Amino acid sequence: MPGMGSPLRAAALLALVVLSVLLALLVGSVRQFGASVAHFPDATARGAEEELAALRRALTSQLRQRRGEILPLLVPGGEGEEEDGEGEDPGLWREIRLGSRRAQLGEMGCDALVDMRALEVLGSGYTKLVVKVNLAGGQPVALKLVNEQGIDMGKCVEDFKDPRGCRELVSYKLKKEMVLLQRLKHPNVIQLKGHCAGGGGGGGGGGGEGVTVILEQGNPLQMLQLLQTPWEDRFRVCLDLARLLHFLSRSPLGSVALLDFQPRQFVTVSGSLKLTDLDDASAAETACRTHADCTLRFPHRNFSVACSDRGVCDGLNEKRNIYNAYRYFFTYLLPHQAPAGLTHLVDHIMNSTGELKADINQTLEAFEHILLLYKSGLHLENLPPSVIRDYTPVRGMSTSGDVEYRCWPSYSQRGCVLSVHSAREAAHICNSHSQCGSFTLSGRKTWTGRLLASFRSSFAHLVPDGTSDVYVKKSKAAEASGA
Ligand SMILES: Nc1ncnc2c1ncn2[C@@H]1O[C@H](COP(=O)(O)OP(=O)(O)OP(=O)(O)O)[C@@H](O)[C@H]1O
Ligand SMILES: *[C@@H]1O[C@H](CO)[C@@H](O)[C@H](O)[C@H]1NC(C)=O
Ligand SMILES: *[C@@H]1O[C@H](CO)[C@@H](O)[C@H](O)[C@H]1NC(C)=O
Ligand SMILES: *[C@@H]1O[C@H](CO)[C@@H](O)[C@H](O)[C@H]1NC(C)=O
Repeated sequence: MPGMGSPLRAAALLALVVLSVLLALLVGSVRQFGASVAHFPDATARGAEEELAALRRALTSQLRQRRGEILPLLVPGGEGEEEDGEGEDPGLWREIRLGSRRAQLGEMGCDALVDMRALEVLGSGYTKLVVKVNLAGGQPVALKLVNEQGIDMGKCVEDFKDPRGCRELVSYKLKKEMVLLQRLKHPNVIQLKGHCAGGGGGGGGGGGEGVTVILEQGNPLQMLQLLQTPWEDRFRVCLDLARLLHFLSRSPLGSVALLDFQPRQFVTVSGSLKLTDLDDASAAETACRTHADCTLRFPHRNFSVACSDRGVCDGLNEKRNIYNAYRYFFTYLLPHQAPAGLTHLVDHIMNSTGELKADINQTLEAFEHILLLYKSGLHLENLPPSVIRDYTPVRGMSTSGDVEYRCWPSYSQRGCVLSVHSAREAAHICNSHSQCGSFTLSGRKTWTGRLLASFRSSFAHLVPDGTSDVYVKKSKAAEASGA
């Protein structure tokens, strides 16, 4: 939800982004030569010069540390960069910069960005700015760059007085994220489509130190909006999250914890949840000497796990993720308006994740079980089959001149459109709405394959429509013809 005044700010950011990408493309080819010439100004006072040199050394050491964090994430022996023997600059950096690692780090390069159209800012955070873009061929993507106005850049420049070096430092977070996206491929992780080295430079420098990451385009997750959608869509987000956490608990990098677990780290792509912010993912298990070292602290709960013989907290990453899923997602999205036949299963998930009594395998199993019941309509078994006899089916017809009424949460803003397993469930719903006089089943389906049914008070005419059936309530029809 853009606040007041943000269109202006967005426009300004966008102008900057477009400019910097163009600039980076222009200078890209010359950049690799004379890039590393020192550029701090001649300080007249010796003291100032020394101070600058000290800052520069501190920044360089941070740069080296960030680089060191990424190396263990690379495929061991995959390209043999560690055997290069150089140690200092294992081929990765050259390759990330030059794009020769394309096959591994997505296929698109800088050339994909030529003649792109930047549409709007999708989001920004401490570190990154994300822009919605149409590529020259019309393909929609999201571009992630260093957020020049972000807290990360601001703090770094304040500390080190070197915008160019800081851009490089902050870019390491993008590079780490890119490597993680590549190693943690999953339907619920945003897809990496490529990258352009040097695209993230803003004013000043010339952009040699930045990187632009090209991603599948999503919609930022809007919790308030999601709260108003049908249970089926909210369940989907929770199920996707359970599938993601199941994958992360046994990923190629080991058990991965999402240290910064918030709705804003996720987007949706056609209704399915995808993780997009990975720079705070950690594959390291917490080291411990006693059980007391293995306490998970949350504002309202503490949990402890065992310190294993290997000296790591067993399953701490997995538990941290499950409890965060419970407190940021499940509590808000799952229980509210769950179908009557499923509430006991939903309550069970709420309790076992909120108390950390189930591991991620059991949690995912519970979710998949609910999905199975919901899709097959088995949870409706105690609906009396007779309800359908209150209705006259009219096949191959739809209605016109409808008198609509609203229900909540409806798939349509104007009328009452709900998902049902069958005509029987729709009849049951119609019976429970005092205004309802008929309903139509068209061929439209939700993501689970359930049918969309539209309910209305009455209608003027029936019109032929091979794809839909109308069910007219007998009592209402009698009322109408009796009048
Ligand atoms: N692929 C994408 N499609 C659409 N929107 C996206 C995409 N990736 C990120 N966003 C949006 O951009 C925002 C910022 O991205 P991201 O979280 O990676 O930046 P950040 O600086 O790490 O943020 P934070 O300060 O929350 O950690 C996200 O909250 C999300 O809403
Ligand atoms: C969690 O542990 C901390 C430190 O041991 C303690 O101060 C806090 O009160 C505990 N919180 C709860 C909710 O038990
Ligand atoms: C789980 O169930 C127990 C027993 O009914 C209850 O005391 C506890 O508060 C529940 N916990 C959560 C997180 O719902
Ligand atoms: C969880 O399931 C995976 C397979 O999906 C299995 O390899 C693993 O052992 C299971 N873990 C537990 C704790 O049961």
